[in-house]
Amino acid sequence: MEEKEHEIHSHSHNSDLFDCIRTRRSVRKYKDKPIPWDNVVEVLQAGKYAPFAGNVFNVKFLVIKDENRRKAIAEACAQQYWVQDAPIQIVVVGEPEKAERYYGTRGARVYTLQSAGAAIQNMLLTAHALGLGACWVGAFDEGEIINICNIPEHLNVQAVITLGYADEVPIPPPKLRVEHVMFFEKWFGRVEAPKTAIGMWSPYIQKAVKETHKMIKKHANKLVEKSRARMKNK
Ligand SMILES: Cc1cc2nc3c(=O)[nH]c(=O)nc-3n(C[C@H](O)[C@H](O)[C@H](O)COP(=O)(O)O)c2cc1C
Repeated sequence: MEEKEHEIHSHSHNSDLFDCIRTRRSVRKYKDKPIPWDNVVEVLQAGKYAPFAGNVFNVKFLVIKDENRRKAIAEACAQQYWVQDAPIQIVVVGEPEKAERYYGTRGARVYTLQSAGAAIQNMLLTAHALGLGACWVGAFDEGEIINICNIPEHLNVQAVITLGYADEVPIPPPKLRVEHVMFFEKWFGRVEAPKTAIGMWSPYIQKAVKETHKMIKKHANKLVEKSRARMKNK
């Protein structure tokens, strides 16, 4: 059921971006093979192009290549040892006091986290588009990562991203149908029957209707031709 819905979307959107979003997976097994530096830079560029609250660039990226440091980081990530096998780790660091200057505590607490999240997702998608595997790692001891990477105490570690060639094809985890993650207008709002409403908007439905029209026309033309031929014979 879920896959069918996704198929309909990918046909109707005909969009590379949506396919990239839909097929991205968390990769937790990596080949022992370095990745081109160009790719790392492109991933970082994608992070940079994320929306930042007030366009304040208060998220920074630490590129970790050193094997010992990668091992220490994996240890700090609640002993998720697969993390050390990725040839590149990107430590995403937020600078909350920069956002605080403009937006107070909301800037420091909410905007910094959300801007970092947007940058992280951009980087994951770009990695996927480049044929690389990546994973968003959020379980870690922040103090330990701060020590390992000489990060000033007042900054926050938002995530560790692993990056490398995938050595697994992860099974797609279950994702909910879209009507199970939405309401109309109000919490629990079911004013419109979601399936009907989505069907009406769907380019897929529009295409199906168009194709049916074409088919009817074609058959009607054939019938006309046939009856004309019959008339001639008479
Ligand atoms: C905030 C956050 C923290 C995460 N932390 C971890 C983590 O510590 N270890 C891990 O293996 N995956 C982690 N993940 C990845 C999720 O487990 C993964 O996205 C989810 O299972 C869905 O799978 P998918 O990414 O293949 O769609 C994290 C994801 C997010 C958004």
